[in-house]
Amino acid sequence: MSLRIGIIGCGNMARILNSEAERIRGTVVAKMDTVPEACEAVFPDARKCLTLEEFLSVPMDLAVEIASQEAVRQYGAEILRRGVSLLVSSIGALMDGETMKSLLRAAEEGNAHVYLPSGAVGGLDAISAVRGRINSLKIITEKPPASLGVDVEERRLLFSGPAGEAVKRFPANINVAAVVSIAADREAEVEIYADPGAGGNTHTIVAEGDFGRMVLRFENVRSPWNPRTSFLAALSVLETINFVSGRVVVR
Ligand SMILES: NC(=O)c1ccc[n+]([C@@H]2O[C@H](COP(=O)([O-])OP(=O)(O)OC[C@H]3O[C@@H](n4cnc5c(N)ncnc54)[C@H](O)[C@@H]3O)[C@@H](O)[C@H]2O)c1
Repeated sequence: MSLRIGIIGCGNMARILNSEAERIRGTVVAKMDTVPEACEAVFPDARKCLTLEEFLSVPMDLAVEIASQEAVRQYGAEILRRGVSLLVSSIGALMDGETMKSLLRAAEEGNAHVYLPSGAVGGLDAISAVRGRINSLKIITEKPPASLGVDVEERRLLFSGPAGEAVKRFPANINVAAVVSIAADREAEVEIYADPGAGGNTHTIVAEGDFGRMVLRFENVRSPWNPRTSFLAALSVLETINFVSGRVVVR
């Protein structure tokens, strides 16, 4: 049976998914946005819903949040409690322990699952495998100055500190810092550089421990509709949907 998917959020990420629709192993049956007109541009055959009740009245297997942290807090637990699994792309919402706990409780109650895409990075299977054995975990992010809201002529270190602090100062980095920290079960140290020579968004993850040393580097191009988002992040949401519906799993 084909996976029945509902999407929450009809912005940039939804438009990328829509443009790659033929690669989705499943059918988008429902869509919802606080700005309902935004949904006109994507998945024309899906039912446009105005409330969470209407959205959940459409039979579905997976709800895909591609909206905002607020949407995760507003709808996440209820969706899971009703037995529908949830893909969370606004992973920064889970840096707050209470939100994470309430989603996990609801997932237990509804016998559903929470899926977190690796987003603008990857290799999180390896990071998870060594959780509890990591002595040092660092994420180095390099972006064009405009993406970080600054104007500098030379490469400059804008921030160095723990992920929890980085996401407050640079919310646009929130998802990478959050997903790596969750996979490692340890707060990553983050360095953020503004680099006028950077063509895209680069993230380097360095993890060290008794297993050795991992260096994972991602030189991402920006997405067609929103330069602040890496194209890889949207493709990773698509891949996670296909992971849910897949019969063969590559990890
Ligand atoms: N995991 C990752 O690596 C990753 C990468 C990129 C973006 N994201 C996250 O995905 C989300 C969407 O990104 P985008 O670029 O598509 O943003 P966007 O602003 O282009 O689109 C978001 C859409 O969601 C709607 N929306 C926001 N809050 C809502 C709510 N509470 N209920 C219903 N609709 C709501 C907005 O009206 C808008 O149409 C963001 O939170 C972003 O942080 C995650």
